[in-house]
Formats: sequence, C-alpha cells, structure tokens
Amino acid sequence: MPRDIVTLAPSQVKEFLPSLVELLIDAVDSGASIGWLPPLGVAEATAYWHTVAAAIAAGERELIVEREGGEILGAVQLFPEMRANGRHRAEAGKLFVHRRARRRGIARALLAALERAAEARGITLLLMDTRLGGEAEKLCDSLGYTRWGEVPEYARSANGDLHTTVFFYRRLVNTKVPKK
Ligand SMILES: CC(C)(COP(=O)(O)OP(=O)(O)OC[C@H]1O[C@@H](n2cnc3c(N)ncnc32)[C@H](O)[C@@H]1OP(=O)(O)O)[C@@H](O)C(=O)NCCC(=O)NCCS
Repeated sequence: MPRDIVTLAPSQVKEFLPSLVELLIDAVDSGASIGWLPPLGVAEATAYWHTVAAAIAAGERELIVEREGGEILGAVQLFPEMRANGRHRAEAGKLFVHRRARRRGIARALLAALERAAEARGITLLLMDTRLGGEAEKLCDSLGYTRWGEVPEYARSANGDLHTTVFFYRRLVNTKVPKK
C-alpha cells in the first residue's frame, strides 16, 4: 500500500475524519499525554478535528499526516505563534502514531515534514513538550532537540497521578530570521 506524508486542507480533514478520530482515540487510550484522559468518545474526538479544520482554514494551524491508502497512521500539528513578537516561533504538538504503526520511523518523518513546513513560513524556532520518560522524550533526544527544562506535576496521567513534563526547543538553522 503506498504511503505518503501530506499537509491536510480543511476539506481533507473532513474526508479522513473517521480515520483521524480512530487515531486520536487510540493515542489517548495508549496513555499519550496530549490533552485528554481516557476514555475519549467519538463525539468529542470528532468535534476536536472540526476545530482543527477551522484553525487550518484560518491559517493558524497546519496538520501533517502519514497516510496509507484511506488511513491516517500518524499526525502532528504546527501551532505558529500569532502574536507580533513571536511570529518566528511555533510549537510542534499533538504528535501521535497509531500503536500498530509505531517504531517504523513515522514520527521522525512527520517531524521532518513539520520542520520544512515551519521553515517555509519563516519560522526559526520550534518548541515541543512531552511527558518525562515517555516515547516522545526519547524521540526528541534521538533527533537532537535541546532540552531546556522540566516542570514537575505538569499534567495528569490516565492513572490520576501528576507527571513531569520536559520542554525542548530546536533552532531551524536553514531559515534566515525574518525582520518582521
Ligand atoms: C512518540 C511517538 C509519536 C513515536 O512515534 P514512532 O513513529 O513510533 O517513532 P519513530 O519510529 O519515528 O521513532 C524515531 C526514534 O525515536 C525513538 N523512539 C521512539 N519510540 C521509542 C520507544 N518506544 N522506545 C525507545 N525509543 C523510541 C527512537 O530513537 C526511534 O529511533 P529507532 O526506532 O531508530 O530506534 C509514538 O510513540 C506515540 O504516538 N506515542 C503516544 C503519543 C505521544 O506521546 N505523543 C507525544 C506528545 S507531543
């Protein structure tokens, strides 16, 4: 089955909605620290992807996915800072890969695509945070992202405990810092 990495337009978010909903629910069920606690219902997951489609339409978000046929195996989002003094920076967030497709290099490829998308917008600084001890921390380390801090008791885990979050950044060196 052919696979590719694409940036989804709002209409494509709607086209791939069932797969995106399944992917998000799988990530939350897997214990991912991405904002929700399990169980996440289909209605809430569907409503979330509609907000993403609206943010893309407004130019305030990019959704980059790994697609295999009609299925989405993984996703990441670029959250550009919209305030005037921070338009050179963005957050990489809501990165998740379906449990059945992990450790095949999909997250690495998604982040590489996200970095190219960020550079195309003139973004020179990327921020990312994740749970201490999680797979994404290992991913950020393996990609050479710079760890700048840890905050204890930052977010709640599925088991109710508060866990530490690790913060990373990466300077996108191929991009010239825009003057405005
Ligand atoms: C984190 C996550 C996105 C990684 O996706 P993935 O496609 O499996 O990652 P990749 O295959 O691209 O891994 C790239 C590198 O990251 C590191 N890595 C990723 N998962 C790892 C794991 N479970 N254990 C150890 N190292 C890991 C390895 O260095 C790996 O390279 P290698 O396979 O050559 O050793 C995935 O585990 C996931 O969706 N987790 C739940 C959601 C989450 O925590 N998201 C982060 C919130 S920002």
